[in-house]
Amino acid sequence: MALFAVVPKVRVVAVVERDEALREAFVKDFGVTGYADLTMMLEQEKPAIAAIFLPHVECPAAAIECAKHGVHVMVEKPMAVSADAAQAMVTAARAAGVKLTTGYCWRMHPVAEEIRRLVADGVIGDVIGAEGRCAAGRLTRYLDGHAPWMLEKAKSGGGPLFNLGVHWIDLFRWILQDEVAEVSGRNVRVNRYYDIEDNSFAHLRFAQGTVAALDISYTVPDSFPHGRDLYISLRGTRGVLSWAPAYEGSKDVLQICSDDPVMGGSPVRSMEFNLEPAKGYSGYMGREYLRGFIDAILHNSEPPISGEDGVAALRVVEAVYQSAAEKRWVAVQPTPADVAGPNRLSSKRSSGPGGRAMKPRRKRRPAGKAG
Ligand SMILES: NC(=O)c1ccc[n+]([C@@H]2O[C@H](COP(=O)([O-])OP(=O)(O)OC[C@H]3O[C@@H](n4cnc5c(N)ncnc54)[C@H](O)[C@@H]3O)[C@@H](O)[C@H]2O)c1
Repeated sequence: MALFAVVPKVRVVAVVERDEALREAFVKDFGVTGYADLTMMLEQEKPAIAAIFLPHVECPAAAIECAKHGVHVMVEKPMAVSADAAQAMVTAARAAGVKLTTGYCWRMHPVAEEIRRLVADGVIGDVIGAEGRCAAGRLTRYLDGHAPWMLEKAKSGGGPLFNLGVHWIDLFRWILQDEVAEVSGRNVRVNRYYDIEDNSFAHLRFAQGTVAALDISYTVPDSFPHGRDLYISLRGTRGVLSWAPAYEGSKDVLQICSDDPVMGGSPVRSMEFNLEPAKGYSGYMGREYLRGFIDAILHNSEPPISGEDGVAALRVVEAVYQSAAEKRWVAVQPTPADVAGPNRLSSKRSSGPGGRAMKPRRKRRPAGKAG
């Protein structure tokens, strides 16, 4: 609610929650109207936007219902338990002429934006390899957090790759402006009680040749600071970018090392980012995500993060599961957006699958100040 309160032109009017005690507590705390049933809320309140925070398996029906009522939809990642179910939401939104976005808000982080700029400017040359680690607590935290459905494959889709890994899949697609062509993956189960794995490891080969290694986990020792182990890096023919996002704290550091002459006499740099404090879910990133969606509605433009982006991330996840089951590299099923569409990411670079002959990137400006 803190997030919705700080974005201009947004006012929360109602909540739908089937648990009566939770609903009543929310209504009391925030002074909005409570409903147990989504359709009733849509018909009574006629809201402009609905934000859906439901167990993954329940998101598609809710989003499609909102679209049919002409309501723009923000749906939490990963959108659904399958790419086809996510695609059904995208199709319904397009048919109804409403906008749909999903919560890959790491794109809004200023460090992520800087990494994307540096890569596009060619400061690290052609990106050969990337690494993404996203490890958060233990899976039992969902029992403590009253979301036990997260540990049931039928309701969540699966383990940490569905819940956390999708963020890094989306971020690499966005930074590289490229699509994953094929994957190789393995899942490792530590727990004995749930039908989801605690760890997923994968190699993603992008169409332009970059190979990204993912380490996505619910096996983080209790002693690990804040229970979060987050890391992103990209290694190119001329340089390296690396970032361990600050989970609790507002200061982020981007490490840059580049042989590119644009770096002048200072080829190794650290850029510090002190983020504006922002209350609410996902802080600054959440606020910018919401603001971007409101702008897209007001200006009738494409949202910065589209439903097609959500489908694309889930196609990669499904290919990793298939690879783990079949112990072989698996091609990622192209999304309609790969063929044609407003959010096509791979159109900016031209070499074919497996190609190493990458297009030289444009040089624009040096990377930050020496630090
Ligand atoms: N973007 C992020 O980084 C991030 C972080 C945390 C959670 N999430 C996502 O948010 C979503 C919700 O997660 P959560 O941890 O808040 O789950 P939760 O279980 O705590 O909350 C879901 C709520 O929905 C209610 N509900 C379920 N079905 C309903 C229905 N049909 N009608 C009305 N109410 C219903 C439940 O009673 C529950 O209170 C998930 O998609 C999750 O992946 C995203």
